[in-house]
Amino acid sequence: MVWWFSVPKVVFGEDALSDLERLVGNKAMIITDSVVHSLGYPDRVREILENNGWSVDMWDDTIPDPPVSVVKDAARALTDFAPDWIIAVGGGSVMDTAKAAWILYEHPDIDLAAVNPLQPLDLRQRARLVCIPTTAGTGSEATKAIVIKDDETGRKFATSNEELTPDIAILDPEFVKALPKTLTAYTGLDVLTHAVEGYVSVWKNDFSDTCSIKAVTMVFQWLLKSVRDLDDLEAREKMLVAANLAGMSFSNSQVALAHSLGHCMGSVYHLQHGLAVGLALPYTIEYNAAESKEAAGHYQELASFIGIHEDDPVKASREFAMKIRELQREIEAPTSIKDAGIPETDFQDGLEKVVDFTMMDSSITMNPRDIDSEGLKRFYQYMFEGKPIDF
Ligand SMILES: NC(=O)c1ccc[n+]([C@@H]2O[C@H](COP(=O)([O-])OP(=O)(O)OC[C@H]3O[C@@H](n4cnc5c(N)ncnc54)[C@H](O)[C@@H]3O)[C@@H](O)[C@H]2O)c1
Ligand SMILES: [Fe+2]
Repeated sequence: MVWWFSVPKVVFGEDALSDLERLVGNKAMIITDSVVHSLGYPDRVREILENNGWSVDMWDDTIPDPPVSVVKDAARALTDFAPDWIIAVGGGSVMDTAKAAWILYEHPDIDLAAVNPLQPLDLRQRARLVCIPTTAGTGSEATKAIVIKDDETGRKFATSNEELTPDIAILDPEFVKALPKTLTAYTGLDVLTHAVEGYVSVWKNDFSDTCSIKAVTMVFQWLLKSVRDLDDLEAREKMLVAANLAGMSFSNSQVALAHSLGHCMGSVYHLQHGLAVGLALPYTIEYNAAESKEAAGHYQELASFIGIHEDDPVKASREFAMKIRELQREIEAPTSIKDAGIPETDFQDGLEKVVDFTMMDSSITMNPRDIDSEGLKRFYQYMFEGKPIDF
């Protein structure tokens, strides 16, 4: 079987942004959101390009967890301006909006819900893509994935295609300097979840493993530091690199159950992506390790890189899950749905819907252990109470 490991060109380090001066082209559209715009980062991109004689436009109407309608608005702006480069400056929501709008800019008739890994999209006929993340984070600047929300049902759906891997990812630590404490913590948990899920996914491989191992050790070394001292630029930069590595890992393996649960808790209970997937992660480790010897072995191996040396794979996995919860407490992230502020009545009211959505989520098929609707219902109840999984 032939496999690919696809990554963008990655530019990193102090003043990474200056790499824009090497870009060959003459017309760029910056895609961003109003918060990031107000922080001034997109204007710095604009300035560099305009100083080099480019014509630049900006569209800043992305919203968190972007729905198809917003993507269509962005695509209209692209069509009107007709750029040869799209430059996304923002978190995962901005980068995913840019990626999805790029598809529609190149091929207006494509149905986003029908995008899949197997059918060619024939991109890069009109434009190419640079991603500059402002969260550390989703790693979307390194991935072939997009996560978009259906306007009618409110369901977030994830899909991927090789061609959606950005051409260039610019990791400039200046761009994550202003990330507030809670977002630093939550988006950092997204990094950990990508790295761990990429390491146990049924499509894991030697390349993705390498990225996962490094990303997991970096998260345990730098996340707490970056949350405790928001001015620690070294910690910020390391987390930005870890996010990118974890993105490379899961983009070339896959995410699994924690992401299915996270997407659906985002859709139904409106929890932030990193908070939701991070909350789910330790429970999925306990669940998978209990029945899948292979998964338990992978968790055991990964845990050894952060100092958990335990001969029994299931015990090692449970210790790993507890270590993750400990980190969550240290960075003040919730470890249960209840702690995340969802009242019990809202939780119960949304339970059927969240279970239905989870069964439909594409990442669930990548999980090393199967789960059905009844199992999911129980799973969600354990996550609500904060009870480690024992089934
Ligand atoms: N495509 C992928 O590979 C991939 C992977 C994981 C998650 N996602 C998706 O990405 C989205 C989440 O992205 P996210 O976690 O980066 O958050 P986000 O992009 O939704 O941003 C969250 C909030 O933070 C603000 N923000 C962004 N950068 C900031 C900064 N530097 N300073 C202050 N505020 C800032 C934004 O304006 C927004 O209000 C979800 O929709 C998730 O499903 C995509
Ligand atoms: Fe994620």
